[in-house]
Amino acid sequence: MTVEIQKKLAGEAAALRVESGMVVGLGTGSTAAWFVKALAARGLTGLRCVPTSEATAELARDLGLPLSTLEDTPRLDLTVDGADEVGPGLALIKGGGAALLREKLVWEASARCIVIADAAKVVPVLGAFALPIEVVAFGHKTTANRILDVLTDHDIAMPARVRQAERGLVRTDGGNLIYDARCGAIHDPVRLADDLKLVTGVVEHGLFLDLADEAIIGLDSGVDILLP
Ligand code: 5RP
Repeated sequence: MTVEIQKKLAGEAAALRVESGMVVGLGTGSTAAWFVKALAARGLTGLRCVPTSEATAELARDLGLPLSTLEDTPRLDLTVDGADEVGPGLALIKGGGAALLREKLVWEASARCIVIADAAKVVPVLGAFALPIEVVAFGHKTTANRILDVLTDHDIAMPARVRQAERGLVRTDGGNLIYDARCGAIHDPVRLADDLKLVTGVVEHGLFLDLADEAIIGLDSGVDILLP
């Protein structure tokens, strides 16, 4: 319950950063959902909202927020989104909700990005949370072998595991698969991010580096602000 209160406080604080007329990216996940609800409650005018997943689109639509797409609004003023880990310099792991590709596309199109999270997400070193890697389904086991080569080169012993749901493999909104890499500790996130992107079949990974401008961390009462 405490965690949920922290997420709510972070989401509500972020909603106060939005002004009428803005183009706003809506993140995915339970923390982002608090932001979406708080944003809708503000009743701002002239907003256009770009959701990062079908789930967020449905929530925003239900709440009456005006939706747009990255095609129709390729430049955003602000994106607010959750994270699985918030590390030093606001380096992030994202993708626990399998929306990392759309999230990264929207973040990179935004003039400003705010990450919102509960206090437990703040870590001294990234990697305790398994790093999500989005992979095309065709030949994914071959791609997984090449991901293992990259991980081994980074002294990460565990192979990435394909994400399963009750009824089979998890599919992203774009129809891809997710592999989760239990890294333990990521000592060189920049090099790991670069190396993973070079693997054919890898669409995107959950390392969000140099993208967050500010973190709003929910506490039991109030929020803490972190800057890169
Ligand atoms: C979805 C994400 C989420 O923002 C991340 O998993 C955090 O989720 P939650 O706010 O539910 O803890 O990256 O792809």
